[in-house]
Amino acid sequence: MATATSGCQLQALLLMALAAAVLTSTASGTLQYNFYSSSCPKAEEAVRNATVKIISGDRTMGAAIVRLFFHDCFGCDASILLDQSNSNPQPEKLAIPLRGYDAMNTIKAAVEAVCPGVVSCADVLAFAARDSVMVSGGFTFSMPGGRRDSLVSDMSNIFGSLPTPNMQVQQLVSSFGAKGLTSDDLVALSGAHSFGQTHCSFVTPRLYPTVDPTLNATYAGKLRSLCPQNSGGGKVLNNNNVTDPNVLSNQYYRNLGTGEVLFTSDQTLTSDAGTAKMVLDNAASPVMWMAKFAGAMVKMGGIQVLTGTQGEVRKVCGATNSGS
Ligand code: HEM
Ligand SMILES: *[C@@H]1O[C@H](CO)[C@@H](O)[C@H](O)[C@H]1NC(C)=O
Ligand SMILES: *[C@@H]1O[C@H](CO)[C@@H](O)[C@H](O)[C@H]1NC(C)=O
Ligand SMILES: *[C@@H]1O[C@H](CO)[C@@H](O)[C@H](O)[C@H]1NC(C)=O
Repeated sequence: MATATSGCQLQALLLMALAAAVLTSTASGTLQYNFYSSSCPKAEEAVRNATVKIISGDRTMGAAIVRLFFHDCFGCDASILLDQSNSNPQPEKLAIPLRGYDAMNTIKAAVEAVCPGVVSCADVLAFAARDSVMVSGGFTFSMPGGRRDSLVSDMSNIFGSLPTPNMQVQQLVSSFGAKGLTSDDLVALSGAHSFGQTHCSFVTPRLYPTVDPTLNATYAGKLRSLCPQNSGGGKVLNNNNVTDPNVLSNQYYRNLGTGEVLFTSDQTLTSDAGTAKMVLDNAASPVMWMAKFAGAMVKMGGIQVLTGTQGEVRKVCGATNSGS
């Protein structure tokens, strides 16, 4: 998709994405566009340079960073990045294995080299996720800044708050709704499952003992050979093998149409009349989906943020400044 988009289309969708971002700016509270324009004018450029470099070295990292942002943003305060310590004995990162922590440390270090102690890890992650979309999806948009970093990280906050892959559409709508995201946002953001990696363990419940009837039979056959029963489920699959597992695109919505998606939480989006209509619309118009995705990323980036003098600006993303 990214390569098939003409320059003219790209310009049009950049404008649309920007418009969507501006429209949703009220949802991001006191966050501001160009937040670092005087305190660190090169901040966003430093993040972009470092992010582009990381993804060109490892094309799978775009998905890893976008997912880190989602997981952080059900409370957008870089709490997902904190390592275990005396004051945070059970940090969020122990709850669920995510990729991209080294990448975040590298990007943060690049920003610290330009202006030490100014740009929060929560903002670095938000900008890096936006730039991952640019590299892996071929479109970009403005992301407001001004988030501060939490002093605490507690994995019990994750359980019951983040949606799970076995959820049905009504549960997903209420999970996103509890964070101020609409069903339109849910459907648009789920397009992130067009790229990245998945472990077999999340897919085998749909393959054994019988194949989930909503799963495409041919695709199920392939998945069964890639993820044998009793194989432990640790093997890594690529999402969206139908095209390119490293490209973020609206191909996801066509895959929903043919039953070629990995999770119940994906396929269920076609089982409700309202979300099914959004799936068809997003499949039909890449430009409209990009604008919706951009707007929803900005909105997600405003969930439960710390601002002003709350929290702190961490020096490194894995530890609070007191280090305890
Ligand atoms: C709707 C509810 C969602 C559920 C239940 C869900 C669940 C999952 C699961 C189970 C995986 C596989 C993890 C693994 O095997 O390690 C995954 C991967 C991923 N998810 Fe989601 N997710 C949801 C929404 C989102 C959203 C909103 C985004 C971002 C906008 C997102 C981005 C990703 C990406 C990019 C990956 C691949 C990560 C990688 O390559 O390491 N997901 N998701
Ligand atoms: C980003 O990369 C460009 C091109 O290599 C370079 O000119 C610029 O100085 C870099 N900016 C920062 C802040 O590192
Ligand atoms: C994904 O692609 C690899 C390499 O082309 C292939 O071996 C594998 O069967 C594909 N998986 C699925 C689920 O289509
Ligand atoms: C299953 O996937 C194949 C390959 O994309 C497609 O041709 C076929 O129509 C799909 N089956 C159904 C029932 O959608």
